[in-house]
Amino acid sequence: MNTQIKGRTISLRLVRKEDAKFIYSLRNNKEYNQHLSQASGTVKDQELWINEYKNRENKGAEYYFIIERLDNEKRIGTLRLYDFIGNKESFCWGSWILNQDKTRSSAIESAMLVYEFAFKELHFASCHFDVRKKNINVIKFHKKFGAEITNETNLDLFFQLTKTSYGDFFTRNNKFIEN
Ligand SMILES: CC(C)(COP(=O)(O)OP(=O)(O)OC[C@H]1O[C@@H](n2cnc3c(N)ncnc32)[C@H](O)[C@@H]1OP(=O)(O)O)[C@@H](O)C(=O)NCCC(=O)NCCS
Repeated sequence: MNTQIKGRTISLRLVRKEDAKFIYSLRNNKEYNQHLSQASGTVKDQELWINEYKNRENKGAEYYFIIERLDNEKRIGTLRLYDFIGNKESFCWGSWILNQDKTRSSAIESAMLVYEFAFKELHFASCHFDVRKKNINVIKFHKKFGAEITNETNLDLFFQLTKTSYGDFFTRNNKFIEN
């Protein structure tokens, strides 16, 4: 599988065991983890988790990416595709974090690269994900992509974005990921 997915200023590459410390520090940073499920354990636990995950990656059941800058190859964040439903019916993505070293367009590029990979390479028809209701900026962000609310709880909003809606978004915004 193509292990580097390139945008204009960033790329996605599959996680490695050596990334455990980086992921641990991101997930335990109060600036970033306010709206994320709570991280537990140590760097070693994170390493073990990556080991287990690699089995799922090999089966094509899950993909965990490290987001890097193209100019200096610095790691700037993470994201993960998981919960693949039916026969390419829908995928979920999350574990989305960007740190202070990000480029200005990292958020829009990283989201578009997820959709490019999942809709155009893996051929999924739709995408689902949930966002904490208090994570106002991220909710706005996904609505601009054409994502629709399908359900809610006291805490979360559940979204869906179809391949067709993303196609419309891509036509208007392809400049963000084209070199
Ligand atoms: C979620 C997260 C990765 C988003 O990254 P971000 O850089 O904060 O994203 P932003 O919404 O600020 O978007 C970055 C830029 O892209 C722009 N942008 C976003 N969508 C756009 C669109 N559709 N068209 C044009 N520009 C767009 C924004 O306007 C912003 O530009 P600005 O810097 O000029 O204001 C980051 O905030 C983070 O790590 N948060 C903590 C963890 C978290 O909550 N994760 C999500 C869990 S669901």
